[in-house]
Amino acid sequence: MVDPETVVRVKWFKRQLVDKSIHQKKSFFHFWFQFLLLLCLVLFVLFYTLSSSSRWESFSLHKHYQRWFSRTNQINLPPAYKVHPKHKVILNEIQQTTSPPSTVLPTVAPTDAYYHQAYARNYHFTMENTEVCKTMNPFLVLMVPVAPHNVAARDAIRQTWGNNSLVQGKVVLTLFMLGLSSGADVEQLQERLKQENLQHHDLIQSDFRDTYLNLTIKTMVIMDWLATRCPTAAYAMKIDSDMFLNIDNLLIMLQKPGIPKTNYLTGMLMWNRPVVRSKNSKWYVSEELYPDSTYPTYTLGMGYVFSNDLPGKYVEISKSIKPFNIEDAYIGMCMKKLGLEVTSPPDPSQFRAYNTGYNRCEYSKVITYILGSSQELVKYWTDLKKPGPPC
Ligand SMILES: *[C@@H]1O[C@H](CO)[C@@H](O)[C@H](O)[C@H]1NC(C)=O
Ligand SMILES: *[C@@H]1O[C@H](CO)[C@@H](O)[C@H](O)[C@H]1NC(C)=O
Repeated sequence: MVDPETVVRVKWFKRQLVDKSIHQKKSFFHFWFQFLLLLCLVLFVLFYTLSSSSRWESFSLHKHYQRWFSRTNQINLPPAYKVHPKHKVILNEIQQTTSPPSTVLPTVAPTDAYYHQAYARNYHFTMENTEVCKTMNPFLVLMVPVAPHNVAARDAIRQTWGNNSLVQGKVVLTLFMLGLSSGADVEQLQERLKQENLQHHDLIQSDFRDTYLNLTIKTMVIMDWLATRCPTAAYAMKIDSDMFLNIDNLLIMLQKPGIPKTNYLTGMLMWNRPVVRSKNSKWYVSEELYPDSTYPTYTLGMGYVFSNDLPGKYVEISKSIKPFNIEDAYIGMCMKKLGLEVTSPPDPSQFRAYNTGYNRCEYSKVITYILGSSQELVKYWTDLKKPGPPC
């Protein structure tokens, strides 16, 4: 006989067992669930860190590269010119000009007309200050490409590195190179430019459209002016309008023994720069315009210095070099075609691009630095010129 109480107890006990096993099962699943959740979390975090770190790297590299490349390939026009909204459209426009026969140059076969878009002698000076070189007889000419409306940049340069006409006994001439404005107020602007030139006698203007994609034309017109209107100068420099230039250090450099008097091009050297093939980049150059994947060695467009025998050679050789809109690389191409080598400056660290901020001691030692604004130029220059040792 079984005691009913025992039955109850056994039942109770069984019940306890079942409950326990259910509970165990439950906690078992619970454990696995938590484990899997944790695993997922760990994997996710791992993945994210890995991918984001590589993304960061490529991002910052990309950014660095972009900034670098922007300096590499761009003349410093005011912000309005920096991003050209019609980039693609205009490029298409240029490409369309490839085929149609043109009446531009009688000496050139019609199919070659396109090659001559950068040929300086297709354009004509509308302001040329022919007498300035004869009267000044400069040793060095600073040629500054600048947008027609950018009076602020010109005035800042006139007050700073462009104001010294005599540096260490050598005559230095500063001139500004403009194309034709394509804005709405063309006539008024042109009138103001005339007045500005009457006052300063330092504007050179040619009749090409002053746009971002025409910068190679601008450079080649500078070369033409130097070759034909100022052949007696010893050296010239193409320098952008947003630059700090330590003109004293430049003159010291040019008078060092061993600096070549001919076939000399120096500045910040660029080796093996890849051609940008991404169509929405402003430095995009099509394979049709420039087939190689890298540019020949060239000097960064912010400021390069050359012996004044070169401009005439550039203009001549440019007849046979297909133009592309990267002006400094185009000059590199001219050097290559001429069979000439770009020369490293005596102290390469003097040609600087990015600056992290003003430092009087540092600015007293360099030749170039890229600045953010005309106000910066005036401010830094004034500080640099105050009495007292800079270092
Ligand atoms: C250039 O410097 C001289 C003094 O050396 C000064 O009188 C003149 O105003 C300066 N020119 C400009 C445009 O600031
Ligand atoms: C470059 O200048 C030429 C001559 O003025 C003009 O015909 C052409 O449209 C300009 N190109 C661009 C892209 O502005």
